[in-house]
This record gives sequence, structure tokens and C-alpha cells, in this order.
Amino acid sequence: MQVDNLSWFPGHMTKTRRMIAAELGNVDAVCEIVDARIPLSSRNPEIDALTAGKPRLVVLNRVDQADPEATKRWAAWFRGQGCDVLEADAKNGAGVKQFAPAVRTLLREKIAAYEAKGQVGRVLRVMVLGIPNVGKSTFINKVSGRKTAKAEDRPGVTRSKQWVPVDKTLELLDTPGILWPKFEDASVGMRLAFTGAIRDEVVDIEELAMRLMDYLGRYYPEALSARYRIAAEPGEDGWALVEKAGRKRGFLIAGGEVDTERMSRILLDEFRGGKLGRFTLETPPEEEKGAGPEL
Ligand code: G4P
Repeated sequence: MQVDNLSWFPGHMTKTRRMIAAELGNVDAVCEIVDARIPLSSRNPEIDALTAGKPRLVVLNRVDQADPEATKRWAAWFRGQGCDVLEADAKNGAGVKQFAPAVRTLLREKIAAYEAKGQVGRVLRVMVLGIPNVGKSTFINKVSGRKTAKAEDRPGVTRSKQWVPVDKTLELLDTPGILWPKFEDASVGMRLAFTGAIRDEVVDIEELAMRLMDYLGRYYPEALSARYRIAAEPGEDGWALVEKAGRKRGFLIAGGEVDTERMSRILLDEFRGGKLGRFTLETPPEEEKGAGPEL
């Protein structure tokens, strides 16, 4: 599911917040799913406060689309924050089998305490949270073998909470409601738009493509030369690169000008479709100031 303006309806957030608070006492741990390409931008800014005190397993999902080196650094960063980490590609099933063992490792002390009280084989309950489009439904379906298509998470459409069994002693709480990203931050919004998490109707395609090109020109120039046969010169901005790529592809309009809108759409489609390669669009905070390069 993608995010649109409606999803950010404040009343809806309040509902989600309340629901998390109400259910937190019923779970042993929280599983936070993030998009490995944008591990910080795809987090809910209040998640730490909302789930305080609960052991956390962070699932870096979509690793098939992310830069493998960056994924290693992000996994280390999250571990440094006190979370356990599981790398996954829910679409193709990687990491899925490791989920239940990862939860049991996360909760080893709690399991030992249950066992000391004679509660051997007590069911562990995990609340699964994630902003739209990180792959939450796909992940839950894969780890549980659930076949049902998920109901749409939309304001006004009621969906009740669901306990989803994974095995005899592990259950997931699939939380209804939308967990919002940090949408007041423009760079976060841009990264969500690059990955397709925000509907294209609510963003300016050419601006988006220009910024993406800027990023790729700076950090992944080899991907641009491989795909578009263009060289990103030092200091060359994203707009110049969109024009260069469009010219190379022969996307011209009257007067020999480049059809930048067409090139912009193609760039975003190809980027999201994985045709340019695997990318991570932000770096862990201590490696660079802030959540990554300015966009
Ligand atoms: P959500 O519940 O978090 O909103 O996300 P959902 O599971 O609906 O997944 C959104 C899209 O992302 C789906 O694609 C899904 O297949 C894809 N996806 C989920 N996890 C991964 C992953 O680890 N890697 C990749 N490459 N894709 C993933 P879709 O285009 O909406 O549907 P479909 O084409 O898969 O049918």
C-alpha cells in the first residue's frame, strides 16, 4: 500500500497510537519492519516512545533491492541501538525461515523466566509494525503461511486486529491502522517517493527525478554509465543528468529540446523496477551527519 494525503489524516494516527498502547501489554516483543533502502525514513518517528520497554526485532526488508554493503552497516547500526536484526526479502522468501528462531533468541531471557515458572511452551506474542509499503503484509503472510489478501488500510474502513499463528508457540499481532512516516521532513518524503511509497500523483515527477539523479550521480555514477551511457561529471547537477540521459535515449521534443518529463518517468520506473541496480538511499547517522546526504 502506498501513502497518500488521506492516510495522514491526524485522527487516524490517534487511533493507531491508541491501539498500539492498548495492545502493548498483550505482547512479548515488537517486530518493526523497515525498508532496507531507506531504513530511517521508513520508520515511524514515535515508535520508540510508543513501544518503550518491549524487546525489538527490526526486520530490514527488501534487502534484494538494497545495496548489500549498506545493509550490513545498517544492521550493525540497529544492533548498536539495542535491537535485534533480521535481513529479509519477503517477496522471495529470504529471511522468512529465520524469523521464529530470531524471535526466540530475542526473547531468550523471557522464555527462561516463563520456564522457571513452569510455563514451558508458553505462546510468545509479537506485535508487527511498519509504515505502508515496507512489505508488512507480504512478510506476515510468508512467515505464517497466511493466504488471505489483506484488507485495505484506509481511513473509514474498519479492520479489526488479527492474531496470526506462525507455529504452536508463536503468534503475530497484525495491527490495523496506518503507522505514519516522518512526513513533515521533506528529505524523508523525497526518499519515500523515490521508492514508490508515496503516490506519484502527490509529488512533482521532474523534481523527484532531478533529485534522484543528483543522488545517483554523486554516489552511484557507475550505475548511470551502465544504464544510460552517461558520465556524471563532478559538480554536475541532477537536472543536467536528466537532460543528458534523455538526449542519449533520443527523447526529444520540438526545437531539439529534451522531453524531461518522459525521461523523469522512465528514470523512476527503472529505478523502482531494479533496472539500475540495488541502492540504499541513506547512511547510518554516525557515518554522516543527519540521516544521509541532503536531498
Ligand atoms: P505493506 O503491507 O507494508 O503496505 O506492503 P505489502 O506487503 O503490500 O508490499 C508492497 C509491495 O512490495 C508488494 O508489491 C510486495 O510484493 C512488495 N514487496 C514486499 N516485500 C518485498 C521484498 O522484500 N522485496 C521486494 N522486491 N518486494 C517486496 P506489489 O507490486 O504491490 O505487488 P506484487 O507485484 O508483488 O503482487
